[in-house]
Amino acid sequence: MTTKIIAHRGASKLAPENTMYAFELAYKLGAEGIETDVQLTKDKVPVLIHDETLKRTTSGSGYVKNFTYEELKKLDTGTWFSRDFKGAKMVSLEEFLVWIKPKDMSINIELKNNKIDYKNLESIVYHRLKEHRLLERTTISTFSTNSVRRLKKYRDELGIALLTSKRIPNLVEYAHDLGANALHIKYRLLHEQIIQQAHSLKMPVRVYTVNKYKSMMNCYARNCDGIFTDAPYKALTFRKLFHYKKELL
Ligand code: G3P
Ligand code: CA
Repeated sequence: MTTKIIAHRGASKLAPENTMYAFELAYKLGAEGIETDVQLTKDKVPVLIHDETLKRTTSGSGYVKNFTYEELKKLDTGTWFSRDFKGAKMVSLEEFLVWIKPKDMSINIELKNNKIDYKNLESIVYHRLKEHRLLERTTISTFSTNSVRRLKKYRDELGIALLTSKRIPNLVEYAHDLGANALHIKYRLLHEQIIQQAHSLKMPVRVYTVNKYKSMMNCYARNCDGIFTDAPYKALTFRKLFHYKKELL
């Protein structure tokens, strides 16, 4: 099997995370999927930003939830990364879906609702995906177990992944019983048994955030279904090397 390379917040090593620059670059570099983070504005528009607050990655400050989409669109989301990206704008989920639709890429929407439990976020995102007919190639993921429970009703139509960095006993069964049909785990949790158990339940296992040679090669060797990486170009090169070495040895 071939481990899929998913650009984490876009090609976020080379361009400001969750901007069109990072997404476009990930596509051009050959990433097979994109992972992005969703928060909800004051007027209930899903927007792509990792943090609940604006300080780290925008020219603004305060909570995303306290501003309207129009207000957030005035912010600069590129300069914090480099002046080369001055003028980058916050991207709405809608803009992202329109952009990715014609491209042959998988989609991972992470709901950032483990700190702020945005009301109806699951159904807002689900209905956007449905309108665009993108359910089939999308996985919605979240660290919130309550949110996974709410997403359960959609699990025959799209991927629902429990995200975790915690050592939970019987993790695969736990996630499955919550309603997930996929598992997204932090690299340090990666273990042969998790992969085997998940695969026996037909649950893909994807691993975050994998940026180093050794960890990439380990994920390929263990048949992970996907890795989230800030450096998709590097992951693709090392994947070629991995398969080439396998043929030679
Ligand atoms: O979806 C994988 C990964 O993005 C989860 O952690 O903090 O990078 O959003 P974080
Ligand atoms: Ca994320």
